[in-house]
Amino acid sequence: MIENFNIKNICCIGAGYVGGPTMAVIAKHCDHIQVNVVDINKERISLWNDKDLNKLPIYEPGLKEIIKECRNRNLHFSTNVDDEISKADMIFISVNTPTKEKGIGAGQASDLKWVEASARRISENAKGTTIVVEKSTLPVKTAETIKTILESSKKYSKNNLKKEINNFYVLSSPEFLAEGSAINDLENPDRVLIGGDDNDAIIALEKVYLNWVDKKKILRTNLWSSELSKLTANAFLAQRISSINSISSLCEETGADIEEVSKAIGMDKRIGSKFLNSGPGFGGSCFKKDILNLVYLCNFYGLEEVGSYWEKVLELNNWQQKRISKIIISKLFGNLFNKRLAILGFAFKADTNDTRESPAISICKDLLLEGAFLSIYDPKVEINQIQNDLFKNGDDNSRVCVASTIQESVEHADAIIILTEWEEFKKINWDKLVPLMRKPAWLFDTRGIINLQKLISLGINVWTVGKAN
Ligand code: UDX
Ligand code: UDX
Repeated sequence: MIENFNIKNICCIGAGYVGGPTMAVIAKHCDHIQVNVVDINKERISLWNDKDLNKLPIYEPGLKEIIKECRNRNLHFSTNVDDEISKADMIFISVNTPTKEKGIGAGQASDLKWVEASARRISENAKGTTIVVEKSTLPVKTAETIKTILESSKKYSKNNLKKEINNFYVLSSPEFLAEGSAINDLENPDRVLIGGDDNDAIIALEKVYLNWVDKKKILRTNLWSSELSKLTANAFLAQRISSINSISSLCEETGADIEEVSKAIGMDKRIGSKFLNSGPGFGGSCFKKDILNLVYLCNFYGLEEVGSYWEKVLELNNWQQKRISKIIISKLFGNLFNKRLAILGFAFKADTNDTRESPAISICKDLLLEGAFLSIYDPKVEINQIQNDLFKNGDDNSRVCVASTIQESVEHADAIIILTEWEEFKKINWDKLVPLMRKPAWLFDTRGIINLQKLISLGINVWTVGKAN
């Protein structure tokens, strides 16, 4: 019985893109709760603790300010995983759940080894009543695995000695934050989901959220609905992007304009105007992984038609990236050998330093295979990250240089390729930049953010996604 259970100490396992910002916002709004974020990665934790707030391991607008306010007040980062688990009333699991690389389900199913390891550590170290909350995106029914592991600690202890009986409650409360707007998404969520079957445990978590979230936005569901809602939300969002990207190719062929089409359909309230920007395809750590996971689940339950329906969303996404690479190559006379291409933007979207699954990776690799020389500029992504994304150890990396300004990247280039919609690219002074390029010069705007007329008047060839080119 945990009636009127007041949470005083929260532990979060995993100080990543989800765990870090989520706990920072909880700490900000709940100064009566001690929030301890733990991670097995020492380097990451020391960056979270660095005096220089510009060194935080994650860049999110607004995050620095919260860390400044709360760190060492009621927000702590450490590698003392077992200790912090033992002190906590509530433990969030925010570890990564990548796609499995080998074994059954390789290439599709989520790899749950880190989730299972976390559950085992909790089962060995937790004391008294503990509410365990799944924050990571997980396949449906993972809560059952977590429960089984936790329950086993009631039966066995390390030395087979009887130990204090623990009470564990498992809830699912998936995170819907998008990178780049994580703090705003956490502060003003569209909804907060709490899935579970114990009313008191649900109330205890609800009380935490109620410190800043309106009660009407807190949705209670059963465990499986909560887990499945997260996968489904991401699948629907990704599907919208594949849908609009499929139409972008038709616009290019027919003379329709994707911006006009997006606007026209978005004004239908049933469709809505958000998430209708065509581009080089979706990236990020979640969409691909979650759809693969959904496809795996469908096939596992014998629903092959449903699985292949969702698989098409991914196929279209890969096709859009390849399609763009091919267009660039063909416009540059089918030959990129020793041509210099300025790549503007490497992150998977603006306002983040994250490059996971970024379309820039596959497009740059295609261009490198054709012998191009790439001069890459991104305002937030580090050189090492770009090198790691494009090359394996021992590969020849001499055809890529990372520029520290737009100008440096564009000098002597045959073409500019805009791959991320950074605000500063929208404000480029083209009068100054275009003369620096070798002629005939091209601009490929895969995000549709540049004023075409201006560019054409400067005598540069322009290709934009979803427009007759
Ligand atoms: C999150 C979610 O948790 C994932 O399910 C979702 O689908 C994508 O976003 P994210 O926060 O982006 O993952 O992952 P990452 O930035 O890799 O952070 C996870 C952290 O967990 C890492 O710092 C890793 O060191 C840590 N970890 C992993 C542990 O502390 N313990 C482990 O046993 C495993
Ligand atoms: C996504 C979900 O939005 C979030 O709710 C979930 O918790 C995690 O996954 P994120 O991956 O951070 O968040 O970014 P998101 O803004 O959804 O963008 C994903 C990809 O879609 C990016 O590559 C982005 O450039 C692309 N995108 C988005 C488009 O191409 N067009 C659009 O209109 C919107």
